[in-house]
Amino acid sequence: MTAPIAAARPAAPRVNPLQRIWLREIGMERLWMRPAPAAARPAVVPQAPVSEPVLAPGLAPAVVARDIAPATVPPTVASPAPAVPQAAPVSPVPAEPMVPTTRSNGRPGIPASILNRTGPPPRPVPKAAEDEAVEAPRIPVAQAVKNATLDELREQVVACTACGLCDGRRHAVFGQGATPTRWLVVGEAPGEQEDRQGHPFVGRSGQLLDAMLAAVGMSRETDVFITNVIKCRPPGNRNPKPEEIAACSPYLMRQIALLKPERILVLGRFAAQTLLGTDATIGSLRGRVHALKTDEGVEIPVIVSYHPAYLLRSPSEKARAWQDLKLASRMV
Ligand code: URA
Repeated sequence: MTAPIAAARPAAPRVNPLQRIWLREIGMERLWMRPAPAAARPAVVPQAPVSEPVLAPGLAPAVVARDIAPATVPPTVASPAPAVPQAAPVSPVPAEPMVPTTRSNGRPGIPASILNRTGPPPRPVPKAAEDEAVEAPRIPVAQAVKNATLDELREQVVACTACGLCDGRRHAVFGQGATPTRWLVVGEAPGEQEDRQGHPFVGRSGQLLDAMLAAVGMSRETDVFITNVIKCRPPGNRNPKPEEIAACSPYLMRQIALLKPERILVLGRFAAQTLLGTDATIGSLRGRVHALKTDEGVEIPVIVSYHPAYLLRSPSEKARAWQDLKLASRMV
């Protein structure tokens, strides 16, 4: 019996997709092997579309550039994508080399990027959340707050659905304190207790904050209004995302415009970077007086200090926080 023609050729070697790419790289793929069936070809890695940062409608880019901190949070689906040449041909990306592990069961090692990662693994974004992130916010916050009184603003915050944080909250936390106010104290975002009770700084951090304010003769009942950059609790107290900051910022800006505080005490890196539009460290921001220019052109002195939650973990920094409070009160 005559052998089939194909059998007369040398048998095609068994190669895995990675070897196939290498063969192609060195121009050997066609000489070495027959064309692979479509299903066996190395997958082309789809190129992620470059998405625009999601901003609350009406929040002017100039305001965002000034008042929103650069990406200090992990990139998300709504973050500006890294600069990717759009017209560049998409080429197959070789599989990531595996790092040998000490495991003796013959299983592959852990990819280097995972092994070397310092933070938690990126969580896959559920389809619904992805849609939420790229969808325009359902109410135009920057427009709605424009002429709002403080009471109207509070109602807007309580009913806000401008970002995904509304899904998991018990209460949106508008803020609490004296009106008119001498100082505006700005923290990061509600934690678990604040989300439960609907008031800012009611947990252990809040007790310390009240004690700090009392030390300079101030109280939230008579002198100070306390609020946060973000009005709803991020799940698990994670860092707020850029689109959440953009959606929520008009509320804080309107609070500042309405309360017209003599000065603003900003607590913690996140709030300081967001309000001052910088990515400088807290160490370099504290100890001096900054200025925040409102839309009405009024300059409000801003003093940066440590977040009370940080002071609870690092009590030795309380001496510096005390200096910050004295700096703030000297100007009253
Ligand atoms: N931490 C904050 O930044 N704000 C709160 O309201 C409570 C804890």
